[in-house]
Amino acid sequence: MEGVVDHTMRQMLTKLGGIDRCVTEFIRVTNTRLPNKVFLRYCPELNNGGLTEAGVPVYVQLLGGNPEMMAINALQAAKLGAPGIDINFGCPAKLVNKNDGGSVILKQPNRVYDIISAVRNATPHSTPITAKIRLGFEDRSLLHEICQAVFEANTSELTIHARTKVDGYKPPAYWDAISDIRERSPIPIIANGEIWSIQDYQSCIKQSQCTDIMLGRGILACPDLAMQIKAFEYDRSHQKLGPQGILELLAQFSEITEAAYENRYVGNRVKQWLGYLRRQYPLASELFEDVKRLTFAEDISEQIQRYQSRMVSPVSLIS
Ligand SMILES: Cc1cc2nc3c(=O)[nH]c(=O)nc-3n(C[C@H](O)[C@H](O)[C@H](O)COP(=O)(O)O)c2cc1C
Repeated sequence: MEGVVDHTMRQMLTKLGGIDRCVTEFIRVTNTRLPNKVFLRYCPELNNGGLTEAGVPVYVQLLGGNPEMMAINALQAAKLGAPGIDINFGCPAKLVNKNDGGSVILKQPNRVYDIISAVRNATPHSTPITAKIRLGFEDRSLLHEICQAVFEANTSELTIHARTKVDGYKPPAYWDAISDIRERSPIPIIANGEIWSIQDYQSCIKQSQCTDIMLGRGILACPDLAMQIKAFEYDRSHQKLGPQGILELLAQFSEITEAAYENRYVGNRVKQWLGYLRRQYPLASELFEDVKRLTFAEDISEQIQRYQSRMVSPVSLIS
């Protein structure tokens, strides 16, 4: 997720377990071959065989409307060791769409085919090429045509965000609209959109008929959601993350972020995560209020520590 799930967030979340694969933020492809440093900036995991520290593969995501340039850049990512390439046909941002990238391409299914097949043909067969779409741009009238284009281009897997571009991020997600596609698809279909809890997960797989799902904002609000889902699926026990666990994660995140970015960016990143966490954790709302005017890493860490010391129970203080 652009501006949110970078390598530091992937490191944090994959350590908690339950995640089988990550995708980078989208890398915008225009009319140049991007220098290696760009791929490495978006996906430093390429220096680690394309895996997070916890060993989870990270696919490099490309966005653009020029098949030839997409192919050239996909090959470069593959050469750098990307475990897979994901192509973004879902981004709704005005500026991105105006520059011929993301969901606007869904208006022309033949272009979806041209882009994916150019990328597929340019990259080694061992590199999976996956795609992510929405149900359509304005409406769902082209959904079957779009999916047919995806299948004919030899895509390995397709993720469907169960909303149109016009729906934006507004609930609900129309999981049932995926089931038709799933039924006739020759490739795995991954359902996405509005999965915030185990209950949402259950409804989503039931309505979409998919066995695999992609989590977006849900895992930022509830960092062990993937683990909760796996525990539920495999009938394993799992102790849900409590407020103390969340504070520990935030302290680690602040530290990792400080090592990766300039000090003055740490505050925004922690605040941004708190913005998602407060949906599930009242403590995150409280902490957000206390850090919202802070910028620097050390000030933020101090507040997190203050909350951590407040959480220590009287029993452990005297034991
Ligand atoms: C801030 C933000 C950034 C996003 N960036 C990307 C992106 O770079 N690539 C992508 O495929 N989807 C991106 N998405 C879409 C999510 O991957 C996901 O499809 C969408 O949020 C629906 O899932 P959710 O309801 O679980 O969040 C982004 C969404 C948000 C809110």
